[in-house]
Amino acid sequence: MLCTLMHKRIPVIQMTIDDGTSSIISIGHIYDISHLPIGIGISDGKPDRRDLNHWWLSRSIPASRSGIREALELLQVPHTQLLLTKCFGLSLSDQYWINPNDHPLEWEKINFFENPFSEDVGNALFGIIPEETEIDLLSPDNTSDGWLKKKWYVINGKHCLMKGGSNPYQQEPLNEEIASHIMKRLHIPHTYYEVIWENGLPYSICEDFVTPETDLVSAWNIMKVKKKPNHVSSYQHFINCCEELGIPNVIPGIDQMLIIDYIIANQDRHYSNFGALRNAENLEWVGLAPIFDCGTSLWFDQLVIDANYAPSKPFKKEHSEQIKLVSSFEAFNIKDLDDITEEFSKILKSSPTIDSKRRVSLCAALDKRINMLESFITSM
Ligand SMILES: Nc1ncnc2c1ncn2[C@@H]1O[C@H](COP(=O)(O)OP(=O)(O)OP(=O)(O)O)[C@@H](O)[C@H]1O
Ligand SMILES: [Mg+2]
Repeated sequence: MLCTLMHKRIPVIQMTIDDGTSSIISIGHIYDISHLPIGIGISDGKPDRRDLNHWWLSRSIPASRSGIREALELLQVPHTQLLLTKCFGLSLSDQYWINPNDHPLEWEKINFFENPFSEDVGNALFGIIPEETEIDLLSPDNTSDGWLKKKWYVINGKHCLMKGGSNPYQQEPLNEEIASHIMKRLHIPHTYYEVIWENGLPYSICEDFVTPETDLVSAWNIMKVKKKPNHVSSYQHFINCCEELGIPNVIPGIDQMLIIDYIIANQDRHYSNFGALRNAENLEWVGLAPIFDCGTSLWFDQLVIDANYAPSKPFKKEHSEQIKLVSSFEAFNIKDLDDITEEFSKILKSSPTIDSKRRVSLCAALDKRINMLESFITSM
């Protein structure tokens, strides 16, 4: 398929996509290189096709997504990359898409922020067989990342992401909610998650924090704007890349992320679980994205709850080391977290898969982490 990579209404480059694999097989005319996705290498004024392919194919649902095999069977699609072209690569997390040359489309009429979309893919991902004989694949779920079961839907005109948990405890949605409460109390910009229950299972719901004016750019792509010298730490490299791009207020924002992750012993703050927002038209950076995806924390899969068990990502392997990267604790007030374990207990109580013994241990461990943080700060 001959098509144009678009950034909202701006043509970026012309390219040919292989119909069988969805990979980019050639790059043609370059319209506006400044609108290329962040992190794509450029040489002799041409984007690196390997980088571009990696970026493009990474927009598809990862093969590790829970329930993906069954969903693909229901949708009668052989692999997730094929779903990419079915929705023109459109997403609810940025403004990139592909415009087919043989039947050009308009962003106003096609984007998911302002137009309805099919729930067939989202439903299939939740194991629901699409009712219509004709399956409609025009869905932002085709371009959603992450391994947990999830779907986009519209409620009261708002775009919301519904995300499940994993066995045995199904704790991630509950963790998302308590993490939101903690960040609210600490005045940390965050994505607010709320738990809902469907057929005895918890799901977290959050609103889209991207608007038709913005792009979410992952830290993963930000880290690619410069080559990392061996002697530079990954933390410093990230800060340097943000500086090069001109992203404002990065250090205080990363401080806040490291603090919340220490408190909840987050195990999975990989480079796609944080990032920055930029304006999709004038390319000006807004700042770091509000903190999202905090569910893989609070000993979500541990049988024995040990507050000291705190492996971390992305800059250090242990939270006890990673917290040392925080440049200032001035804005942190431990008093803001008084009685937070009562809120945690209340959230946990709603779950049939978390018994009272586990609940009490989880609350005690959260309390201990808050005290550990206080001790760390006073020892400095
Ligand atoms: N509220 C939101 N607004 C816009 N984009 C979002 C929002 N929440 C998540 N995303 C996008 O969707 C992706 C997947 O969401 P999320 O990280 O919550 O899923 P996950 O399955 O928990 O991921 P992981 O594999 O890291 O555990 C994110 O990396 C981000 O790009
Ligand atoms: Mg994630």
